[in-house]
Amino acid sequence: MDQELWVGQKREVPLPVFLILQRYVRNCRFNGTPGTILHVGIAHTRWATHGGPTEANAHPHSGCRRQLQVVHNGIIENYATLKEKLQKAGHVFKSETDTEVLAHLFEEILADGTSLPQAVRKGLQQVRGTYGVLVMDPAAPQQLIAARHGSPLVVGVGDGEFIIASDISPIIEHTSKVVYLEDGEMATITPAGMQIVTIASHQPVQREHESVEWTVDDVERGGYAHYMLKEIFEQPAAVAAAQQGRSIPERGLAKLGGLELVAERLAKVQRVTIIACGTAYHAGLVGEYMLEEYAGIPTEVMVASEFRYRKPVLDEGTAVIAISQSGETADTIASIQEAKQKGCLVLGIVNVVGSTIARMTDAGVYLHVGPEIGVASTKAYTGMLTVLALMTVTLGRQRQMSLVTGNRIINELKALPAKIEQILTQRAAIAKLAERYQAYPNFLYLGRKYNFPSALEGALKLKEISYVHAEGYPSGELKHGPLAMIDANFPSVFFAPQDSVYEKSLSNLQELRARGGPVIAVATAGDEHIGKVANDVIWIPKTLEMLTPILAAVPLQLFAYEVALLRNCEVDKPRNLAKSVTVE
Ligand code: M6R
Repeated sequence: MDQELWVGQKREVPLPVFLILQRYVRNCRFNGTPGTILHVGIAHTRWATHGGPTEANAHPHSGCRRQLQVVHNGIIENYATLKEKLQKAGHVFKSETDTEVLAHLFEEILADGTSLPQAVRKGLQQVRGTYGVLVMDPAAPQQLIAARHGSPLVVGVGDGEFIIASDISPIIEHTSKVVYLEDGEMATITPAGMQIVTIASHQPVQREHESVEWTVDDVERGGYAHYMLKEIFEQPAAVAAAQQGRSIPERGLAKLGGLELVAERLAKVQRVTIIACGTAYHAGLVGEYMLEEYAGIPTEVMVASEFRYRKPVLDEGTAVIAISQSGETADTIASIQEAKQKGCLVLGIVNVVGSTIARMTDAGVYLHVGPEIGVASTKAYTGMLTVLALMTVTLGRQRQMSLVTGNRIINELKALPAKIEQILTQRAAIAKLAERYQAYPNFLYLGRKYNFPSALEGALKLKEISYVHAEGYPSGELKHGPLAMIDANFPSVFFAPQDSVYEKSLSNLQELRARGGPVIAVATAGDEHIGKVANDVIWIPKTLEMLTPILAAVPLQLFAYEVALLRNCEVDKPRNLAKSVTVE
């Protein structure tokens, strides 16, 4: 990914390494001689929306007259209309992408003698949809244009260089100073520096750079075979970091600085709606159980892509919590906009500092788990659960939760990193299990109450990195359908810690065994009974019931990882997926 690509060079990278796409201008050095840019380049990792992953569809795209070079993240919704108009004006298209329309559109406007920045600005005014876009003109190589609407774009300000990307990961190797472009803004970079203006009205925008905390070490593999494995093993530190300095145990309080300004509004909240996608949605489901049981607040969790098209009943008494590792997920962002319009208090639980969701929410809590590079979310998930537990203490203590309960949750949270370490020592045993089970084409993941979301998350991890079909189900639903599939060739992974629903879980487990279905149980260390019913057991240490999903997540991640390795899958870059889903 760090390879320098030059104008006109094309390389289709079929699967993203870090992000949906990264593009950056490297070594844009001014070396003290005004008016001289030594190097300008743009590169792109494509996640196909319009047109397959072919050479012709790879970015950058150029027009047919001046060979303008364009890379773009997002979707141009009115591309068909624009394309037809441009074709009538004589433009010849070479790809099936929506992006190519931009190159021809800018060229068409440039033909009037308009400057490149003006042409890009005017062109973008005709565009409907989302974009993070970079434009360069080989005929005027002293400038580069970057613009954003609905897709992330960040400018790294280095020592005599600018690096532009859709995320800070490729930038931090070069500089810790960044400027985030806002929606509707365009930056022109020349040897004189960077000017930002609004696309709609050409108003100049003054913006100071921000400092990024992440370091190069954070984004390197550090001796691990894969980022995913590194990130699984970072979880003791990540779960510790997510709660570091965020509690006052003797008073049974969580101390979340990011929520202090809205503390009074939080105390009046009558309902919580959590919106998120994928793994973050599963974290939200655990949060629902936590908030209802310990804070007594009616809570609902919605997949953001559904929320945005429903007519959710929200009012000023509702707090909406958006959960996202990247802070750039398009559906979650759209849902936040909807919630804000309805006057709700909107909070974020986000990993990437300064990301779009972090900036658009009223208040929030960062995960502080460090960069997550592997497409499969691991440490961000356990970080989200940790923060949700702390939020539950905050909201609970504002309501009926006792000091003793608050204190117990906080102390148990503090004990989790050491317990995760204990689980990680079982890697070799889990690898052996993976060997035994990797050939099965289907899996059922089951759990009840707090670990129903663990079942969903376990199934997602297996599907996304090993391409093995897996379904997550609440175990109580077994006999309402899925049990029909069970036979000796259909294994289940069953989350059955010794919690308030342990007996129920055991009955369901027996039902599977009675039909010959092989079962791997995830159970509490010291449980003498489970080994008699399950075929195999992975042990997790005892903790509070509400925190069991944090421990249960670790073996399911390791199991999916080992199965993916055995099946020769690209663990960090699963096919068809991107780390950050910045298109709808
Ligand atoms: O960045 P986000 O947390 O908003 O991303 C949401 C999902 O795209 C993400 O969790 C996805 O499901 C992961 N690849 C799962 O491992």
